[in-house]
Amino acid sequence: MAEQRTLVLIKPDAVERGLIGEVLARLERKGLRVERMELRTMDTELSDAHYAEHVGRPYYEELKGFMTSGPLVALIAAGDEAIPVVRALAGATDGRKAEAGTIRGDFSLSHQRNLIHASDSEDSAKREIDLWFGA
Ligand code: CDP
Ligand code: MG
Repeated sequence: MAEQRTLVLIKPDAVERGLIGEVLARLERKGLRVERMELRTMDTELSDAHYAEHVGRPYYEELKGFMTSGPLVALIAAGDEAIPVVRALAGATDGRKAEAGTIRGDFSLSHQRNLIHASDSEDSAKREIDLWFGA
């Protein structure tokens, strides 16, 4: 048993499409617990910090525009192996290539508008939880 906490963002495309409940239901049905949750709107400073490793990449300006375009849901999901478990539920980054049965595979036809962010390692989960919720 390796209890973990991971940072999840239900991205602005999912909020706009009325898919908050759909994404949350998948996390809950898997057995994960929601420890914190908030409707937030990213500003450019938070985007640059959250996506620090992507700043300067060719898609980053468009990604920042998308991520700051409207409200998103930030949450901490907890449970056994929560970090890889949520990544598996999310599916591959590009929604066109993500497997059916995953969140992105079932609801996204885009490399960018792919409904969900999930921390990809213990280090990034710690950094991102601290960034969004403090400590
Ligand atoms: O979100 P994930 O960790 O699966 O993918 P990433 O490679 O870390 O990229 C972060 C986010 O940038 C993605 O979820 C996409 O929304 C966006 N992205 C994009 O807009 N265009 C790309 N070519 C790659 C990523
Ligand atoms: Mg990533």
